[in-house]
Amino acid sequence: MADYRDRIKVSDTAATKYNSRKPGKHLAEIRLVERALRDLDGISTVLDAPCGTGRFSILMAQEGYVTTGVDLGDAALAQAENNCKSAGVTDVTLEKGDLEQLPYAVSSFDMVFCFRMFHHFPDAVVRERVVGELCRVARKYVLISYFDPRAITSIKRRLQRRFFGKKSKQNATSLQEVEGYFRKHDFELTGNLARVPILHTIRLATFECAEQIG
Ligand SMILES: C[S@@+](CC[C@H](N)C(=O)[O-])C[C@H]1O[C@@H](n2cnc3c(N)ncnc32)[C@H](O)[C@@H]1O
Repeated sequence: MADYRDRIKVSDTAATKYNSRKPGKHLAEIRLVERALRDLDGISTVLDAPCGTGRFSILMAQEGYVTTGVDLGDAALAQAENNCKSAGVTDVTLEKGDLEQLPYAVSSFDMVFCFRMFHHFPDAVVRERVVGELCRVARKYVLISYFDPRAITSIKRRLQRRFFGKKSKQNATSLQEVEGYFRKHDFELTGNLARVPILHTIRLATFECAEQIG
């Protein structure tokens, strides 16, 4: 079993820890996603994959999209349900499922959103498999976050590994590498946003199905 699955929020403790992330960081990530959503059109259905404890499923539902959240962690799903209720969002569908084999038919969702997951994938085989699944179930867009290897945090992690042997479970991937996976499924890069370029490692890329580009 691939090691990234260690990160699955199977226990309540792990999901609770993720649920109580630093408010400033959480808000900055919400703003980043809102910026990316502004550039999209023709969306009514969204898959939040993985949904974790539900913060972006809530955002998508509040934006007016018919939203489904999928995750492999039972504890994450349970907390997502509670969080949706607390936010007054009652129409999100939450389901258990594996990103490596999504339980949905071809083109089931106008947009598929994958945030804070890609950098956990350990190798090209898993990355390629998951991107294949995201593209298969997406009709128009896939929004995906990845870690930029040129950002200061990524450089710091590489130096720590090299000089202090400190291992990191976060894998940075170049935009070219990410684009390569999507190109195989005829999805083209149409956006690439940073929280704060150079400083922060997280990027949010938008890929659009070539057939849908007018
Ligand atoms: C870091 S959290 C991100 C959650 C959410 N996107 C967010 O930004 O708040 C990662 C989530 O991925 C889930 N996960 C890990 N591997 C998965 C897989 N193969 N299929 C579905 N979910 C998975 C975990 O259970 C966890 O809830």
